[in-house]
This record gives sequence, structure tokens and C-alpha cells, in this order.
Amino acid sequence: MRILLLIHGFNSLSQRIFVALKSAGHDVSIEFDINDDLSREAVALFQPDIILAPYLKRAVPADIWRNHLCLILHPGVVGDRGPSALDWAILRGDARWGATLLQAEAEMDAGPIWGSRGFPMREAGKSSLYRREVADAALALIFDTLENLGHGKKPTPLDYSNPDVTGKLQPNVLQKDRMINWDVDNTETVIRKISASDGVPGVLDGEYFLYDVRRANLKGAAGEIIATSGPAICRATSDGAVWIGHMRKATQGFKLPATMHISPEVSEIALDSDQGYREISYHEEGEIGYLRFNFYNGAMSTSQIERLLTAYNSASKRPTKVIVMAGGEDFWSNGIHLNIIEAAPSAADESWRNINAMNDLSQAIICTNTHLTVAAMGANAGAGGVFLARACDYVWLIKSAVLNPHYKDMGNLYGSEFWTYLLPRYCGKENAARITAQRLPVGASEAVQLGLADASFGNDRSVFDIETAERAKALLENFSALKVIKNDRRDADEAQKPLANYREEELKKMHRNFFGFDPSYHVARYNFVHKVCKSRTPVTLARHRDKRKLERIAT
Ligand code: COA
Repeated sequence: MRILLLIHGFNSLSQRIFVALKSAGHDVSIEFDINDDLSREAVALFQPDIILAPYLKRAVPADIWRNHLCLILHPGVVGDRGPSALDWAILRGDARWGATLLQAEAEMDAGPIWGSRGFPMREAGKSSLYRREVADAALALIFDTLENLGHGKKPTPLDYSNPDVTGKLQPNVLQKDRMINWDVDNTETVIRKISASDGVPGVLDGEYFLYDVRRANLKGAAGEIIATSGPAICRATSDGAVWIGHMRKATQGFKLPATMHISPEVSEIALDSDQGYREISYHEEGEIGYLRFNFYNGAMSTSQIERLLTAYNSASKRPTKVIVMAGGEDFWSNGIHLNIIEAAPSAADESWRNINAMNDLSQAIICTNTHLTVAAMGANAGAGGVFLARACDYVWLIKSAVLNPHYKDMGNLYGSEFWTYLLPRYCGKENAARITAQRLPVGASEAVQLGLADASFGNDRSVFDIETAERAKALLENFSALKVIKNDRRDADEAQKPLANYREEELKKMHRNFFGFDPSYHVARYNFVHKVCKSRTPVTLARHRDKRKLERIAT
């Protein structure tokens, strides 16, 4: 089928739908919802069988939905309507929620229903629930609907007299609904309010918006800041305390670690300790060491990477045989920390420090000759994060993972992390060229075909973690032989071209990106960090706007 994705932005959910539809053999093109005439033009150019809108912020123009089958994904149960579906569900503390696929009609979210799927809620931020539970439900709904369409089935009209219709029209959540009353609100309530606002818009609290909340095991006078730990401040609630990891100035700016905004004179708790905010943790199960690095939004600053490298070096000195790099809850890694770079007095200098720290870590992994290394990717990764994973001997992906193995969207950034060594080494020259040219997200099975990963398994995180442990144990059975093969290969590669040369060549190009005449990287980073809306859909996504293709059709 020809499917046009009409979306506000190419977010993780849209990316996952895009790769799944493509790998199922559908002809998919994308248009950003920027302006009604551009949407009309996209429809005219692509002539889709279906228009799918998994992430829209406003209604589809009437002449489009009247003339084409338009399916809208709503992150809510049947009958739920309005722009703050998940926000309300988290604020209320619902035990279950859902996603619904409906047909666009005049009234927003009130069209006939093609299907709905429920899921249990997790204690997590809105974006995390959206990336996992909503995305899983959306994929199932879309494929069910495509099948139903093939069988000529029809959608069910929304009927509030039906007892199964549990949702209702809900207003937009306002800051007054999110506002924390520190004297009264307990930990549970504070967590709900910040989690319901995670990603966007945050909870307005005095001069700042708050994000990234976790339970803290401390107590103090309600509302007081009672400790710090790395990026986070600890604030007492009426019955306990929470860590707040990130804040944004209400007047301007972007999210930064909370302690970059304020430096209260309170005790500091060791960052990765049991009592602390804890980004990095290590534990062993027999001869397998697991290193987790749960960095907010998968962004890795210079100091975070330096700490991770120290933890990695300690892990590689342990009498274990396999090191599993397990990443974080929501992302495995998204590469260098663009927000911290943006906030630095010299963005170019900080970019340089950040990429060098990444390279030190990549190099340490590639050169490990005592252990087998595994990147266990139970969540998505982007840019340098993908290549950092490929530095490990084995890359295992959860089936739902989406990788973005490219840097060019960040102002033609050349990229480093030894990708010029790792891509040809694991993917072959042809695939390496394809990956770098196409600038598109890649799903788990495609990543395995391309050699970006070695295996994909597990439909959910707990299954993925269990199978990762089993596979890591299986590596122990052949450990000595596998280690010999790995080290011989590394020695041969080193003899052919030293790693230092790859590093030097890549960094030469990166130096030009950071310090050179062309400001594209700095402009792209500014736009990314400040969330400047796109004014057009890139041709890599809007295939219907690809002039070369259109000319070929015309001749
Ligand atoms: N540095 C700082 N913040 C980052 C980041 C990075 N490298 N990568 C992602 N983020 C932030 C986003 O700004 C967003 O912030 P929000 O919480 O304020 O909304 C959040 O992480 C989630 O990102 P989003 O783009 O909404 O997630 P996604 O799953 O839809 O897309 C990516 C993931 C990786 C495709 C996209 O975030 C991206 O292109 N990141 C930049 C990667 C990059 O170029 N890194 C530098 C070169 S190594």
C-alpha cells in the first residue's frame, strides 16, 4: 500500500511505524504538518491509499480526510478525546490506559474507531510511556487495521452509550493542574505531576520548569532543597523526597541538569551511590559484569562519559569474562550532549572535549582483550550512540528498537567514535556506504541484516533482559576460543591500519565541523536544542518531493 505519514515531527513513534511499514513491504512517504497547502500538495504528489497520522498537533484539513482514508492515532482509551490524553492518565494515577486508532472526521478524535489496545501503566515519564507502551499498542493497531481493511471491514462509530466506551472529552492540562503544592503534596503526587509533564512542557515551579523526577530516600522539611547529587537536586515532599534531575528557565532556554541552574548550599550525595541520583551502576552475575548507564535522554556529556569510562575500566579489571553494556531505561545512547555543549562558554571547545571523551570510551571497548563485550540495547540509540554500541564485540537489540546510525542531520556533522573503522568491519563496505548515505532510521531486523547488530530478540524489556542474560552465559561456554578469535582479528586490523589513524582522520573532519568556516553544525545544534520547528520536510523523508524521482516518472 502507499502510505503517507502526516506528522508533526519524525519522533520515535513515527520512526518506529515508518520502519515497520517499510519492512512489511509498504510504500511509505512522510510529510510534516507545517501548512495545509503543503499537506494537500503532498497528498497530490504521493497519491496515497492511506494517510496515517500517528503524531499530529492539530486537525487534518477537511478536504483531505473527506477524499482519503485518514487514520489518526490517539494515545488514549476509546472515547477519550483532547490533546492531553496521557498527561491526564498519569495525573489520575490510572492503573491501565490505552491507544486508539480512529478515522479522521470533522470533530477531533471523535471519528469511527478502527481499534483500541490497552496496556498497564508503569511508573515512568510521559515520554517513556509514549515510546514504549503507546508505540507497542500503535504498531499492533496499525497492522490489525491494515488487515481489516484488506478484508473490507468497517470501523465502529463512537457511541458514548456503549459501556465499553470508558473515555470522555478532556480539556488541555494547564500549568495550574500540574502545579506542585510543596507543603501538601506527597512524593507520589509530585512524581505524578512531573512525570505527566515529562518531555514537554514540564512543571512550572517558580522560575523554572521541572523534569526528570525520581524517588529519593531522604527526608526533610517539605519544599526545602535538602541535598544535591551530580546533576540533580533533592527536594523534600510532605512525606519523603524526590530527585529532580533537569530544569529549564521559565523565561527562555532549554533543559539542563538542575545543578547547572542552581547551587544550593546543602550536602552533596555521591552521584552513583545507593542514596544518590545514580546514573551509572555495575553488578555481577557470576562471570558476567553488567554496566548500566541511565543518562537522561541518552545524551552523554564529557563528565558523564569520563565517569562511564572509569566504571568500564574497573569492570574490565574484574575477574569476569563478559561485560554487558546495558545502557539506560529509555535510550541506550544518543551521543554527545548537545544541550550541555550549547550552554558552554565555547560550544566548539566543549564539542571537542565531548567527542574526544566518546572516542576514549569507544577505544577502550574496542581494545579490550581480556573480556568479550556486549552492547545490550533494550532501547533506542542515535548518532554516536549507535557507533559506540558497535564498538562492542556483540550488539543485541530489543525487537522494538529503532537506531539512527547517522550524524549528517546535525549540520553535516562528520561523526567519530571510530565509525570509519567499525562500519566496514561489521557491515561490509557496501552496507557501510548505504548506511551513511541514507540518513534514515533503521529497525531491529534491518539493523541485523546490515551488520549494525548481531541479533534482535524480545518483545518487551523484561524478556529482552532475561534473554540477554542467557545469551551472555552462552558466550561463557566458548569464551577462550571466542577471545582468541577476537584478539587475533583486532591485531590483524591494527597491523593493517592502526586505530589511532582512524581517530586522527575522523577528528580532523570533526575539528572542521566544530571550528571551521562552515557554521552548519552550530546552527543545526542550536535549532535542535531550542526546538526550532522545521519549515519543510527533508527530501530524504518526503520521497514524493524528491525531484530526481519525479523527473524519472515524468520521462
Ligand atoms: N543531546 C541532548 N539532548 C538530546 C540528544 C543529544 N544528543 N539526543 C536527544 N536529546 C533529547 C531531545 O532534545 C529530546 O528532549 P526533550 O525531552 O526536551 O523532548 C529528548 O532527548 C528525546 O529526543 P527526541 O528527539 O524527542 O526522541 P526521539 O526518540 O524521537 O529521537 C533521536 C531520537 C536520536 C533521533 C533524536 O533525538 C536526535 O536526532 N538526537 C540527536 C543525536 C545527535 O545528533 N547526537 C550528536 C552527534 S553524536
